[in-house]
Amino acid sequence: MYGSHRDGDGTARAALRRRITAPELRCRKGREPITMVTAYDFTMARLLDDAGIDVLLVGDSLGMVVQGHDNTLPVTLDEICYHTRCVARGARYAHVVGDLPFMSYQVSPQQAVESAGKLVKEGLASSVKLEGGADVAEHVARIVRCGIPVMGHVGLTPQSVHALGGFKVQGKSRSAAKRIIADAIALTEAGVYAIVLEAMPAELAAQITEAVGVPTIGIGAGPDCDGQVLVSYDLFGMNIGHAPKFAKAYANVGDTMRDAAKSFAAEVRARSFPAPEHCYASDPIAPKAKLVAV
Ligand code: KIV
Repeated sequence: MYGSHRDGDGTARAALRRRITAPELRCRKGREPITMVTAYDFTMARLLDDAGIDVLLVGDSLGMVVQGHDNTLPVTLDEICYHTRCVARGARYAHVVGDLPFMSYQVSPQQAVESAGKLVKEGLASSVKLEGGADVAEHVARIVRCGIPVMGHVGLTPQSVHALGGFKVQGKSRSAAKRIIADAIALTEAGVYAIVLEAMPAELAAQITEAVGVPTIGIGAGPDCDGQVLVSYDLFGMNIGHAPKFAKAYANVGDTMRDAAKSFAAEVRARSFPAPEHCYASDPIAPKAKLVAV
């Protein structure tokens, strides 16, 4: 069923295409792996949607790759709402997840409900994601009770970068691993439909995947998760500076963009662009002199 929208051939199967829902994603556990990629604008969303990506995450990583901050903390709920609206317009079939940014939900379950509601109502997200484990379980439960599906996120939680002492792999010690497993279980009991596992040993991610009844979506968490997510700028090879070990680049779009811009500049300087095929002709029956007179 999920593959039906990848035919792209106008057949009856392709006509069955419709937006993927949170309950469908939840049912994918142990069946078909989930593909998730971050998107921040209409065009990127449409291209990823055309490629058959299941989930578009409007991540607060936009603070780093779009806005140029060192971390995700400055991102506001209004900014996530704006980008989620752009992505929702581009996504025809992919499930769109809006990421709740730092301090838009941690304060109280009520604040979490209000922020999640805004992201669905104004941002047009189909579900929301938030970071944390047992500490935010009540927040998750309250959002879910309002009818908004929630995706969890444990392991390296970038909104806690200062408390963690940097963007570091989590769960390496036995006690830290036990805490992350307990967090994933608490989120599941609170009602999440999926959990992102970020930057942790592959064995720990495999253990969590085994322990919880909802799909795990890994990023730097090894091959045994129920799905994988990448930041689109990493996937396309558009990094400025350091890329994490887990960020596989499937293309070199950054270099392609630089080369294209250099070619454009060279042609403008050589006056070879625009060529005749890029120019509009005037109406052949309207003499030039008349145009000037008008
Ligand atoms: O903000 C983001 O892009 C994320 C992914 C790394 C999972 O949370």
